[in-house]
Amino acid sequence: MEVVILKSADEVAIYAAKLVGVLLKSEPGAVLGLATGSTPQALYRRLVTNYRDGKISFKNVTSFNLDEYLGVAQDNPQSYRSYMNRELFDLIDIDKQNTFVPDCKDNENPREVGQRYEDRMRLAGGVDLQILGIGGNGHIGFNEPSSSLGSRTRVKTLTRQTLHDNSRLFTKDEFQPKLAMTMGIASIMAARKILLLATGAGKADAVVRMIEGPLTAMCPASILQMHEDATILLDEQAATQLQNRDYYDLAYLQNESLKERFGVFDAD
Ligand code: GLP
Repeated sequence: MEVVILKSADEVAIYAAKLVGVLLKSEPGAVLGLATGSTPQALYRRLVTNYRDGKISFKNVTSFNLDEYLGVAQDNPQSYRSYMNRELFDLIDIDKQNTFVPDCKDNENPREVGQRYEDRMRLAGGVDLQILGIGGNGHIGFNEPSSSLGSRTRVKTLTRQTLHDNSRLFTKDEFQPKLAMTMGIASIMAARKILLLATGAGKADAVVRMIEGPLTAMCPASILQMHEDATILLDEQAATQLQNRDYYDLAYLQNESLKERFGVFDAD
């Protein structure tokens, strides 16, 4: 696990966008795993800017989103499909036919939809780079605490904490879904590289449990300790509870100087 602590959420977005840029330069047809929530918004804004400046193209990219609400139509502004169109897809040159969200319509069998999503990811060659956020309770995607560490795309019931955390995004009259279809923990772990972004004080507790706590289904993000190429990008506020901070800063400086000498160098 590589832990990179930067000064601000803005710097986190710039760093993450740089990694996406490096990947797309060497693999223009890469498969991206994408996340929603407020954390990746700054990254998406940065990617759009880089696209407009002619630095990056998504023409040959395929993308798979982590999750989608159940019972929310795709054209509902609250759906994660709408979020992705609004924040990224409508603003870049990606072919929307190659963007996938695990949406499950009312008349569809969630088991079949989950299986189909897994098959589609496999057919695309698997995810090259998975972008993740983290929930206040340590969830990734919508894999809530106690989710099987071996899980694949399926329906999850959202916890009270997640419903509470996300209630800020819904008006009083809007339906707030309690169920979602999400890539499983094993589906996420299959990505060749993982980049988790966490910013703000509200994430500090989940972050220390993910990085320095025991590997446990009660903090699904702690599974990333087992991934061979996971980078955790934090701002100062999200890093306040880390005990091993000195080491992460030291390792970051060493890795950056290796990257300068030898080009992109992945150290975990
Ligand atoms: C949401 C999403 C996650 C996201 C997390 C944090 O519920 N399912 O993919 O990482 O919660 O969201 P935010 O970045 O808004 O804090």
